[in-house]
Formats: sequence, C-alpha cells, structure tokens
Amino acid sequence: MKDLIDIRDLTEAEIDELVCTAEDIIANPDKYAEVCKRKKIATLFYEPSTRTRLSFEAAMLELGGSVIGFSAAADSSAAKGESVADTAKTVECFADIIAMRHPKEGAPYVASKNVDIPVINAGDGGHNHPTQTLTDLLTIHREKGTFENLVVGCCGDLKFGRTVHSLISAMSRYAGVKFVLISPEELKVPENVKTEILDKNNIPYVETTSLEDAMPELDILYMTRVQRERFFNEADYVRLKDTYILTPEKLENAKKTLSILHPLPRVNEISVEIDKDPRAVYFKQVKNGKYIRMALIMKLLGIKA
Ligand code: CP
Repeated sequence: MKDLIDIRDLTEAEIDELVCTAEDIIANPDKYAEVCKRKKIATLFYEPSTRTRLSFEAAMLELGGSVIGFSAAADSSAAKGESVADTAKTVECFADIIAMRHPKEGAPYVASKNVDIPVINAGDGGHNHPTQTLTDLLTIHREKGTFENLVVGCCGDLKFGRTVHSLISAMSRYAGVKFVLISPEELKVPENVKTEILDKNNIPYVETTSLEDAMPELDILYMTRVQRERFFNEADYVRLKDTYILTPEKLENAKKTLSILHPLPRVNEISVEIDKDPRAVYFKQVKNGKYIRMALIMKLLGIKA
C-alpha cells in the first residue's frame, strides 16, 4: 500500500497492526523519537483544520522528522490557478510524504496518482476522512478492548458527515456490530452507504430521529456537528443545527460503560457539562489521533521501530 485515500485501503490485519504500533508508541515514546530523522511531511491543507493538521505535524515532529506545508489554499499557488496534480508534483521535490485536505472529493486521490511518495487523505469534501476513522478505532479499542459485539450510535449529520461514513465502513467489518443511526429525516445516512456497506454485509441497523429512545442500548455514542459549510441553504442549516444537544439529563438512561466520541470541532451539540463525565472521551480521542498518525506515517514510509 503506497497511499491512504479510503479506510477500505486497509485490511483488518493492517488496522490491527497500526493500532498495535500506536499502543507501543504510547507505552514507549522514546523508542520512536528519531525513527523519521531527516524525513519531511508536507501538510497541504486547502480547507481549515485544527486537529488533523496539527496532529500530523506533531506526529512527524515526535518521530524526529520535520514539517513543511500550507494551512489555506490562499497561501499557496492554488490561488493562482495551479492544479492539485502540479502542486503535488512540486511538493514531491521537497518532502517524503504528503497529508492533504481538500474541499473537492477525490483531490487527494488525484495527487496520489501523480507522485511516487505516499499521499494521505486528510479529508476530502463530504467523502472520506480515513485518519479520523483510525483515530476513532484506536479510541474504541482503548476504551472497549475490542471492535466486536458493540452497539454503535451515530448521531447528528449523517448525510454530509464524512467521518460517520468512514466509521460505518470500518466497523462493519467486525463481528456482532450493530448501528443505531440517529438523525433528522433530512440528514439521514446516504442510500449508497446503506446499500453498499450495511445491506451488502448484512449489518443490522436501525434509523431513528430520537436520541433519547436510542440511548439505553448504546455502547458507543458518536456525536457529530451539523456542518454549516456543507449546506447550500442557510435556512436549512439554521432549522437543523440544534436538533441534538447532548446534556447530562439525556445521559440518565445511558449505560455506565458508554463511551462518547466526537471527531470535533463541536459547536453546541455536546454541552460542556458533559466534558467532566468519565464517559466523555473526545479529548482523549484527539490525543489518540497523534499516536495513530505516527503509526501510519511509519507504515507508509516503510520504517520499523
Ligand atoms: N476532526 C477533524 O478533522 O478536526 P479538524 O477539522 O480540526 O482537523
């Protein structure tokens, strides 16, 4: 595997290997402190990011490598009309690996086809965000000790939420997983995700508009933000943005062992009072993102500890 464009580029064995490496990095950080000495990552971010860009950069720095890149299309020659392919071919002259976020679906794939160095999709439009999914998987594994026999509730914008589509795709490969898909009618999981992933693999799922009804059976609650930037119509965004706000009262019927994840950023869909609940693991999830990206960078560069 040269690139990571879609979570399905990774087999279950490769995901297990990345999770295992990330766990070893967490336990033995010194062992990894220089494994990427003289290597450079280019972070090419055509869309805003806090976690993904900074965690890729922190990951490479903690592996002993260095970082170049840009954090907005306006700061690059894309502003003068340069194509993604030409930018990637240029960056290949300076860096050993690329992490790219782009608002257009397929842009990181185009970059990967034009260069010999590895390209990581750091989020392409409403399409995919595979390293967020690896982050989510490491978090689920650290909290639950397994990927199997879990009831996973996904709540919020399940239509445009690329992290949800990738998580469904990844978790569908494990035995005994059931999904509860909680969204307004207008933001339901797209039909192709249901037919090509859930139905095709006989994965049990239910769709509901009620977070309260779904809560008691959940092992994982994956909250998401209603994304203003994906709406064509501001009125629709305003109407739907506050549909689900997780408060302590809504957790009264939840399992004591529930784990609450969120890819972040949050707006108001999780009350800040929840942050001190031990079931809230979304800031642990952010930190896990750095460790799993360290493992991924090493894998794609062919580096062993
Ligand atoms: N989860 C995530 O992708 O966050 P950023 O947009 O801040 O990178």
